Amino acid sequence: MSIPLLDLSAQHQALADEFDAALERVRATQRFIGGPEVEHFEQEAASFLGVADAVGCASGSDALLLALWALGIGPGDEVITTPFTFFATAGAVCRLGARPVFVDIEAESFNIDPTAIEAAITPQTRALIPVHLFGVPANLDAMNKLVAHRNIAIVEDAAQSIGASLNGRQTGSMGALGCFSFFPSKNLGAWGDGGLVSCQDPGLAEQVRRLRSHGSYPIKYVHTTIGCNSRLDALQAAILRVKLPHLPRWNQLRREKFKRYQELATEHRLDQRLRFQAVSSDANPVFHQCVVRAERRDQLLAHLKADGIGCAIYYPIPLHLQDCFASLGYQRGQLPVAEQACEEVLALPIFPELSETAQQRVMASIASFYGSN
Ligand SMILES: Cc1ncc(COP(=O)(O)O)c(C=O)c1O
Repeated sequence: MSIPLLDLSAQHQALADEFDAALERVRATQRFIGGPEVEHFEQEAASFLGVADAVGCASGSDALLLALWALGIGPGDEVITTPFTFFATAGAVCRLGARPVFVDIEAESFNIDPTAIEAAITPQTRALIPVHLFGVPANLDAMNKLVAHRNIAIVEDAAQSIGASLNGRQTGSMGALGCFSFFPSKNLGAWGDGGLVSCQDPGLAEQVRRLRSHGSYPIKYVHTTIGCNSRLDALQAAILRVKLPHLPRWNQLRREKFKRYQELATEHRLDQRLRFQAVSSDANPVFHQCVVRAERRDQLLAHLKADGIGCAIYYPIPLHLQDCFASLGYQRGQLPVAEQACEEVLALPIFPELSETAQQRVMASIASFYGSN
């Protein structure tokens, strides 16, 4: 039995009739761009997240761009973020001509280390982008305290964490703006690209709406600023509306799968070999990925692949060492915790319908690699 890293077929089968009805609705209204599906989805997402407003856009990458752009960030500004994330987090900063400033991560949670942020703040710092990596909330309480009384906005990269919460507050609702991705493999995935910006301030929401439609909002063809075309299309919104009500249950199943892997690892006496991502007691994670630090990671990865088990490395190179950021002047050894994580992390299969048998087989295969059966 081969086990994929992610399998959406069961989810698609179970909701097939609802998807068909949603697509038919869009066909019948002929509103393919904007219109009722997008507006309803934005309202449903805002209410799910507990925010004042939510604005759909073309991707999670664009959500980050639009959020920073709405804040007026540009050349001469610095934005603090983590080097251990998907490229788009820092890419958005550079697309606006601002400079990303990387701060090291916590070894156990893989999230930006709040205790290291203060030393990176300069008079040019305008924003901070924490990433709730793999669906595990970063310590926003500490970061909100840090930026209070400073002119620094928090833009949460919640691309991987929709439905996760910290002390009862949803990720994406704790900073000035939150950015979400609906890339098909995400916990709430569309059937193509899609993204969303969640906003606490109606004025910022209006600016995001303006920027995503070439600066012409609320009056069409009256351009008050120069923006871009970054729309969530109605077909994607219709698919997302079918899925959103199921998200809390799917996220709960992901938590159960993560816990089950931990139990199985202990049963196989793998606790010294595999270290699971740590979650603080005030956080409710959604485990977009199940990421462990593994001894002899590259050999384990090859063993699992040969054994038909899907696994992947998120992420193999920290952003501060990417060629495209060479001009920022970072050296190897400067952010050692992130650099070490890149050498050790491995993502194991996790999705709501992953079976007990599959989980047992994954851990048995890992145990056979380490000879610890
Ligand atoms: C942490 C993070 N930020 C941003 C993005 C960008 O999202 P998208 O792929 O929808 O552009 C992703 C997803 O790929 C992500 O994982």
